[in-house]
Amino acid sequence: MSDEKSSSEWVNPLRDPYDKRLPRIAGPSGMVLFGVTGDLARKKLLPAIYDLANRGLLPAGFTLVGYGRRGWSDEEFADYVFAAVKERARTRLNEAVWRRLKEGLRFVKGDFTDDEAFDRLADLLHEMDERRGTSGNWAFYLSIPPQHFAAVCSQLARSGLNKAPEGSWRRMVIEKPFGHDYESAARLNEVVGSVFDEESVFRIDHYLGKETVQNIMALRFANQLFEPFWNANFVDHVQITMAEDIGVGGRAGYYATIGAARDVIQNHLLQLLALVAMEEPVSFDPEQLRAEKIKVLRATSPVAPFDETTARGQYTSGWQGSTKVPGLAEEEGFDPESTTETFAALTLEVASRRWAGVPFYLRTGKRLGSRVTEIALVFKRPPHQPFGDEQTKWLGQNAVVIRVQPNEGVLMRFGSKVPGPGMDVRDVNMDFSYTEAFTEESPEAYERLILDALLDQSSLFPTNDEVELSWRILDPIVEFWATQGRPEEYQAGTWGPPGADRMMARQNRQWRRP
Ligand code: BG6
Repeated sequence: MSDEKSSSEWVNPLRDPYDKRLPRIAGPSGMVLFGVTGDLARKKLLPAIYDLANRGLLPAGFTLVGYGRRGWSDEEFADYVFAAVKERARTRLNEAVWRRLKEGLRFVKGDFTDDEAFDRLADLLHEMDERRGTSGNWAFYLSIPPQHFAAVCSQLARSGLNKAPEGSWRRMVIEKPFGHDYESAARLNEVVGSVFDEESVFRIDHYLGKETVQNIMALRFANQLFEPFWNANFVDHVQITMAEDIGVGGRAGYYATIGAARDVIQNHLLQLLALVAMEEPVSFDPEQLRAEKIKVLRATSPVAPFDETTARGQYTSGWQGSTKVPGLAEEEGFDPESTTETFAALTLEVASRRWAGVPFYLRTGKRLGSRVTEIALVFKRPPHQPFGDEQTKWLGQNAVVIRVQPNEGVLMRFGSKVPGPGMDVRDVNMDFSYTEAFTEESPEAYERLILDALLDQSSLFPTNDEVELSWRILDPIVEFWATQGRPEEYQAGTWGPPGADRMMARQNRQWRRP
């Protein structure tokens, strides 16, 4: 920061999300968590809150109010939080930190339509403002199915909780799924928008909280090396893969009506596409960054005919390593005739000068060969090859691969001479790995996002426009699939249904085997 800057231009470094020199500590505040007994809260949100406290990034009086139907006392709620923290926290358990956090844990019993319970909640928040110094600053975190958003929103409005007292703030943090298609997302946006201003709404896409996803921007825009070939002149196609080795166990209620494409392509994978395909933003201000992502999403559309350019699958029983795992139809809570896809692959195009003619292949699946998320830019072959066919038979296409997880890093694949008297050329890898280059461990995505919401840093949260545009891209494909009966089967532990390979073969391409 320049010393000459006038005080009006001065930017508080504690509030600058891209300045890592100083820790950013949330100001006086608290959070009300709806859906506290859910899977996500237990596995991710509660541990992330503890990790933030442990890193000294939460204010001294931070208060977490759980809201739910259990008849818990504050003490019982604290036991539940402790169990989650013990099981999943990233950082070490520190008694003193836990004791301080525990002092700020409260539980309110009620359902989402209960006037009296919301009145009690309002009284409690008021009391906490006085006793713990939360200063009227509250984030309401909805980790609940979207059909309950309207009830919670109207209760927050009825009890006046959406309105901040002078000088304080109220925010809403919303977990996906944000609707199940464009229409439902637009309706939800209306409901939420009638209670909170758009600037106070933080929609979570936890992929944006991952360090490696933010690194896409660093890689592209802090370097001179990559940008010149980051376009249709050089890139043959882009593959974005999110493969999971886990099944849907325990989440039947949610997953059965959603399927793989709505679960992760509409949000995580399309956000990755937007970051890879966007132009350089004027700055990393939320407005500017989102403007570039929105331009890309507006220019993106699915490539037809969908029976040739997409693929769907459902896993059957198989082996994950040495463990025998059940197929989707045998998972608890699933109808054996279920048409829910657990694998989805599709072809998109981005109508811009930079990307015209470059297919973007997106694929995701549960119970695949391994857990890996990566973005691969696969390059065209050189216009002329001075080496003979025999010499280059082990040479593929050059590639830049951003490994989002695990083994976070960036890999470049290119051809190199095989040592020896001949002139054979084959693929080699140049590999940057986060764990080798940096000693610091990356925080969990939810640590970053919860902290950003408390700090009013919205760059890493998609807007309603982004959510709606993403549904518009996906809707025609999902509607087509709905007319096609059951998806193809694939055995657990493999890389998806044969249709996914056929889809690529039709275009003379093949999936990378990560
Ligand atoms: C969630 C999906 O958004 O992302 C899950 O609902 C999926 O189905 C999860 O398992 C994967 O997240 P991560 O961070 O483990 O890649």
